[in-house]
Amino acid sequence: MTNIFLDTLTGTGRKIPPIWLMRQAGRYLPEYRAVRASEPDFISFCLNPEKAVEVTLQPLDKFGFDAAIIFSDILLVPWAMDRNVRFVTGQGPLLDPLSDPSEINEDDLGLIAKRLSPVAESISLCRKNLTRDKALIGFAGAPWTIITYMLEGRSSRDFATARKWIWDNDDKFDRLLDIVTMATIEFLEIQARAGADALMLFDSWAGAVPAHFRRRVVSGPARRIIDTLRSRGIMQPIIGFPKGIGDGLIAYCDDTPVDGIGLDHGVDIAWAAEHLPGHVTLQGNLDPLSLIAGGQAMDRAIGSILEAVSGRPHIFNLGHGITPETPEPHVHELVNRVRGQMS
Ligand code: CP3
Repeated sequence: MTNIFLDTLTGTGRKIPPIWLMRQAGRYLPEYRAVRASEPDFISFCLNPEKAVEVTLQPLDKFGFDAAIIFSDILLVPWAMDRNVRFVTGQGPLLDPLSDPSEINEDDLGLIAKRLSPVAESISLCRKNLTRDKALIGFAGAPWTIITYMLEGRSSRDFATARKWIWDNDDKFDRLLDIVTMATIEFLEIQARAGADALMLFDSWAGAVPAHFRRRVVSGPARRIIDTLRSRGIMQPIIGFPKGIGDGLIAYCDDTPVDGIGLDHGVDIAWAAEHLPGHVTLQGNLDPLSLIAGGQAMDRAIGSILEAVSGRPHIFNLGHGITPETPEPHVHELVNRVRGQMS
């Protein structure tokens, strides 16, 4: 059975691209909200394989996407490192801000695989419930993005604390980067071994890193993660998503052995199609807010993405996660438009 997501990610272009959406399992779906309400604690929800698989499959049942992304969260890694991660309604994630890498117990690193084993269980259960034509994506946050939450203790606008750590003259930041990189490798490895068909590394806040530190903070750790996974025999294709780095994408593709690159909606996809190396599959990059408007403006934006990437392997997606306000009929419209069917 062909799998158009995996074929495209490994370099075979298609006339009709595969499609999935970041945050496709989420609050815009009433059936997601119903399951969510049955588990008031978000972390317990992520660590409940039956419920996680149920919500992972909801968007595939409804929209027929070509890939599922396992329901989990990037902040499970700091949770597994005992950083007291909790999600407060209306505030998003809260963590106890770290003030020194020595606050992380090195023994916790050895426990990552065990503490996060429910996510591996979700993956193997989900894979059993999917036909072979659908791919299952496992994921983790990239070290920098995880570190911003660990240092700021919450979502941030300018990441001032984390950026000050980068500029610090002692090796505190590099020590922390090293620890989180190792934890990330463990998390991705258990997902790959449990049966994920592809892996994605979300560096949602890469755009906040000063350009001349990108190699040290963004692409270097991504490269180390991928090289280490390969050396451990993990061969699934990997998508990098260094959001917000603009023309830094060229160096990121050169510096890391990624198979695919997620493009945010700030990137001109025609520029990306021209300048990013041909062996890297492009993924993206419709503005998620265009889905709220829907209609002709959205249709035109989809058309220009499809036109810009024609001739090279491309996975249709948004430039960032789908928002809770998105009307479901607009998601159907999007899928139909991408697949060339009139709605
Ligand atoms: O469908 C999917 O994409 C799979 C699941 C997924 C979630 N989080 C579930 C989730 C994925 C891939 C993520 C990644 C994630 N989590 C990122 C990277 C991608 C991005 O969006 O930049 C980040 C930065 C996080 C951290 C995080 N998790 C935040 C900031 C929040 C709160 C945001 C909000 O909208 O409240 C979460 C919670 C979260 N993770 C939700 C979901 C569906 C919403 C929580 C809820 O249902 O109450």
